[in-house]
Amino acid sequence: MDWSIPLGASSPYSPVANNLTPAGNSGGYDLFLDLCSGSANCSQDICRYNRFMTDLYSVSAKYYDEAYATLEDLRDLQFYLEMARRTGGPVLELACGTGRVLLPIAQQGLRIDGVDSSPAMLDQLQQKLAREPQYVRELAATSLGDLRSYRSERKYALVIIPFRPLQHMYTVQDQLAALNTAAFHLASGGLLAFDVFYPRFESLLAGLGEETLELQWTRKNDPTTSVRRYLRKESVDKINQNFSAQFVYRTYRDDKLIKEETAPLKMSYYTYPHLRALFLLTGLDIVEEYGSCEKAPLDNDSREMVFVLQRCPANRRRKTE
Ligand SMILES: C[S@@+](CC[C@H](N)C(=O)[O-])C[C@H]1O[C@@H](n2cnc3c(N)ncnc32)[C@H](O)[C@@H]1O
Repeated sequence: MDWSIPLGASSPYSPVANNLTPAGNSGGYDLFLDLCSGSANCSQDICRYNRFMTDLYSVSAKYYDEAYATLEDLRDLQFYLEMARRTGGPVLELACGTGRVLLPIAQQGLRIDGVDSSPAMLDQLQQKLAREPQYVRELAATSLGDLRSYRSERKYALVIIPFRPLQHMYTVQDQLAALNTAAFHLASGGLLAFDVFYPRFESLLAGLGEETLELQWTRKNDPTTSVRRYLRKESVDKINQNFSAQFVYRTYRDDKLIKEETAPLKMSYYTYPHLRALFLLTGLDIVEEYGSCEKAPLDNDSREMVFVLQRCPANRRRKTE
């Protein structure tokens, strides 16, 4: 069933029309639970409709893999693959999305579990997994869950949070909760690896309200169409260190616009001392730190901050859970 809104139409259920931007931290998942759980007469279709409309990734999920395949400076895969090989697994990926990183790790013969709060992103992952050979399908498992509260019995040699999901944590409490989730699942001597971007303060407030063409590509399943993704930055909250924006996806056939979809984006940004304070509060020690996934030094030229961490000895741990 395709719930997309044709060009020109608007929907009262649109996350944008209803201001269901990811304010606070609930994302679509809490709303989805509110709408669907425990409702005796909730028909399957209404549930699926609600789930789609309240999943903030419902639009982006469709385009995610194609969009980021065009991003030449996204070179994180080798870093996370190497981390997985180095520890030997099992691996837990928090906020695994469409499996961009999860699948290549399973293809290496390593056990990996993935958790994500977006049903649409997990749906893409499941479709890809179904096309994999049996050994890969047996090595990968996924669950719908929130990275702030997810708990399983299993412990892992490696926990990874690739490509900035920690930037979807908008309060200090949520940032601590996410790191506590990661720390909780580490086996003795296990490692946590994640990356965030280093904020470009000089351009943070520039271009508010303007659209910037970021990415464009030809659709794989319909080469007669191409998609252009624009970013429209809407506001910056300097106190809480985050910005809100819209992704605008425009689909063209023969240069004629045939569809326009939007997806809200809200990202927090971190500074180095902020992260060091979060690590102290969650009992995590830095093992390695880099300015890129290609292991450039972390310095004034860095555009990213990449960390490998481990749990500090029990006698130095504070209680923040
Ligand atoms: C930029 S994608 C990264 C996906 C994947 N790790 C990758 O490298 O391609 C961010 C992901 O974070 C997920 N996410 C955002 N907030 C979350 C939360 N509170 N709990 C779990 N997943 C969350 C989104 O659903 C999305 O799949």
